[in-house]
Amino acid sequence: MGNIRKVSVIGAGNMGGAIAIGMAAGGTVLPSDIVVTAGHQLSIDRVRAAYQEITGFTDNSMAVRGADLVILAVKPRQLPDVVSEIREAVDYGSTVIASVVAGVVFEDLYGMFGRMPDTPMYRIIPNTAISRLKSTTFIASDRDVPVISEQIDTIFRSMGDVIWTDERMLSCGMSLASCGIAYAFRYLDAAIRGGMALGFSEVESSRAVLSTMEGALAILKQGGTTPRQEILKVATPGGYTARGLQTMDDKGFDDAVHSALRSSAG
Ligand SMILES: NC(=O)c1ccc[n+]([C@@H]2O[C@H](COP(=O)([O-])OP(=O)(O)OC[C@H]3O[C@@H](n4cnc5c(N)ncnc54)[C@H](OP(=O)(O)O)[C@@H]3O)[C@@H](O)[C@H]2O)c1
Repeated sequence: MGNIRKVSVIGAGNMGGAIAIGMAAGGTVLPSDIVVTAGHQLSIDRVRAAYQEITGFTDNSMAVRGADLVILAVKPRQLPDVVSEIREAVDYGSTVIASVVAGVVFEDLYGMFGRMPDTPMYRIIPNTAISRLKSTTFIASDRDVPVISEQIDTIFRSMGDVIWTDERMLSCGMSLASCGIAYAFRYLDAAIRGGMALGFSEVESSRAVLSTMEGALAILKQGGTTPRQEILKVATPGGYTARGLQTMDDKGFDDAVHSALRSSAG
């Protein structure tokens, strides 16, 4: 296995399409070295509208021939059929197989392919911010082969942050970051609607909530403090913020967040 140059994304939907476009935008893979497949030509056209040089096929077995890296990005229920289409065409001595399919473990993948490939396999869990090159991506490999893992890391790090973990922690990573982005949107949505209930227009409330969130992130990103420490700087005992935080406690805010994370971790 040499350098990863040619990458085929099987299933150019929301996630697969964003990965294909993100790899091209991130500059780690040349658009002309990227192949995508989908069930419908329209989905392929959507990706190629961003980068004409990306090649599209509706035939999965054609797409994996000559690929250095194959990324499986179909829905879990579509995966067995897709794998049976490509099983005979994969070069198991040189092609690296990665899957972003949530909940399908390495053992399941070996079963579908009918073997354990000679190269390491990767399970990759990004979130939808990958379309803005701001994904939080959890990655697990079934074997430790640094020369390949470093290349996988480079590709996905060009599309955001990467956290390597054990396979058993992937569902927790998915909960924290892939489902978690929806929880972040949920807080933002609640705060925007709350601002409207206080009397602001939707535009004013959205502006205020989004820029407040950006400010909070900017403070934390400069390093040196935790969210709890920053809360203490704002919440004077007996003051307005302390009153609001107490109301959040009374309404079970932390418990709701922790319960959501536990329930989506499977
Ligand atoms: N969305 C997330 O936040 C997220 C996060 C982490 C992991 N994932 C994983 O990403 C995977 C894809 O999710 P998604 O949200 O991107 O779903 P999606 O938008 O429905 O994408 C699935 C893609 O697979 C294509 N497809 C279906 N059958 C195919 C076949 N036989 N051959 C080739 N392509 C085929 C579909 O083509 P058509 O569009 O033409 O029908 C579609 O483009 C899932 O397994 C999910 O667990 C998603």
